[in-house]
Amino acid sequence: MTTQVLVLNGPNLGRLGSREPEIYGSVSFDDLAELCRSTGRTLGLSVEVRQTDDESEMISWVHEAADARLPIVLNPAAFTHYSYALRDALAMRTAPLVEVHISNPAAREEFRHTSVVAAVADGTVAGFGMVSYQLALQAIAGLAAADDAGQPEPGLAEPVDPGRPAAP
Ligand code: DQA
Repeated sequence: MTTQVLVLNGPNLGRLGSREPEIYGSVSFDDLAELCRSTGRTLGLSVEVRQTDDESEMISWVHEAADARLPIVLNPAAFTHYSYALRDALAMRTAPLVEVHISNPAAREEFRHTSVVAAVADGTVAGFGMVSYQLALQAIAGLAAADDAGQPEPGLAEPVDPGRPAAP
């Protein structure tokens, strides 16, 4: 079964490509969206990518995901640092959530060091450019597979073959 995933992007990310390329690189938002969809295909995920500059629209998408039990990869952009409303919406999630950042906020201005959404996410990937999204999708695939299998943790190693001698 293909798992459906929403990749949600907050304010100013629609300007990728021309927005502060020394920080965010030269890949456009459309190219990022295509990268997410093609990465999803290799992981058995059907990926839909959205972007908004509007906090209320973002929150309505998070509600939609909660109602439909859809996993989310979320780049909250500047909402990361101050939107308690988004954080409260995400707290109602019913499926995996991975926070993602293109840059490494911890290595930037002080106000970026706080994420008000991190505590309600399964985890955060930051600082790897567009690869952050690919890693986040990989994490979502692991979390979704673990959920389906009723396992407590994602990405558990294959059980050791009992016929094989134990490593020294
Ligand atoms: C960002 C980091 C945020 O601090 C910033 O407000 C953004 C983008 C990132 O992807 O690196 O808009 O989320």
